[in-house]
Amino acid sequence: MADTKAPAARPLSPHLQIYKPMLTMMMSIVHRITGFGLYFGTLLLAWWLIAAASPSSYARFEWFAGSIIGRLILFGYTWALVHHMLGGLRYLIWDTGRGFGATERELMVRANLAGSIILTIVLWVAVYLMGGLR
Ligand code: HEM
Repeated sequence: MADTKAPAARPLSPHLQIYKPMLTMMMSIVHRITGFGLYFGTLLLAWWLIAAASPSSYARFEWFAGSIIGRLILFGYTWALVHHMLGGLRYLIWDTGRGFGATERELMVRANLAGSIILTIVLWVAVYLMGGLR
């Protein structure tokens, strides 16, 4: 009878802890995390729209959105949305078969990360300048 406890004589897939973390890999993980985070952000959006039906509900939403915690959550949501959207465009480029070279893929993930931070700040500054945060 075959010994089922004997080590497999075939190559085994390396597990996650064997890989050296790379930016492309981390960004893939972040893309999935931001994707899940967006579900909660969509709930906030739904709350905002539903709250618009009555002045007291809207006042409660405004209180939340204007609080420090609320602003931090909305800032995080903005970043997650922008980051995920730019990541989606990156996947779209990859889907066409382009951008798989070592330099290009590294450049694209860096642009994704830097672009998401810059765009989020630009959006919040624009909202501030329009008087939305006062
Ligand atoms: C509120 C809006 C969104 C939500 C809730 C959402 C949610 C998600 C989630 C949960 C995933 C991970 C799926 C998985 O890995 O099993 C995902 C992946 C993905 N999302 Fe979104 N997403 C949203 C908006 C967008 C936008 C605007 C784009 C494009 C501009 C986009 C492009 C993608 C792509 C390309 C993937 C697959 C990436 C891969 O192949 O691993 N998503 N999304």
